[in-house]
Amino acid sequence: MPLDADAKKTLLRKIPHGLFICGVAEGDTINGFTASWVTQGSFEPPLVVMAVRADSTSNGMIQRTGRFSLNVLAANQKDLAAVFFKPQQGVGGRFEAAAFSLGELGLPILSDALGAVECELVGQVAHGDHTVFVGEVKTAMLHRDGEALELSSTGWNYGG
Ligand SMILES: Cc1cc2nc3c(=O)[nH]c(=O)nc-3n(C[C@H](O)[C@H](O)[C@H](O)COP(=O)(O)O)c2cc1C
Repeated sequence: MPLDADAKKTLLRKIPHGLFICGVAEGDTINGFTASWVTQGSFEPPLVVMAVRADSTSNGMIQRTGRFSLNVLAANQKDLAAVFFKPQQGVGGRFEAAAFSLGELGLPILSDALGAVECELVGQVAHGDHTVFVGEVKTAMLHRDGEALELSSTGWNYGG
């Protein structure tokens, strides 16, 4: 039976997502992008799972360096999420819009996000137009607690 594309799209868009800024660093080059396909995958060890476009700049940087950060945006940071999915002036240019520091693993940590974790890559599935990365959480910085930005509040779609 052929896949019902409309049903598939409607149903997959029901999966709730947060909005995060994934940070990557390779040598002196940093980059970041908005990611929504993110979830936790294990308590012990603490794992996160994130799907990253196969043709993105950051995908190659994660493959080559084996690490990435995930910055958790606050509910009022929709504008920042928009900065990090739009085309940029050179790799890393999006960080001109946001103060950041480098974490213990050398990955970009946004100063104004709720906080961030840094992860080491422990697995991946490269099949289709995204690569599913599994990262083990190695560091965690909570800047302040609060409501996190959710995709459903933005009117944007990524999925289906
Ligand atoms: C709402 C929204 C959610 C997104 N979620 C993801 C995601 O989970 N994974 C991904 O690879 N790209 C996602 N993107 C697209 C990336 O942010 C975008 O392709 C970005 O330009 C990639 O940057 P890079 O090529 O510099 O790595 C999303 C875009 C939007 C608008």
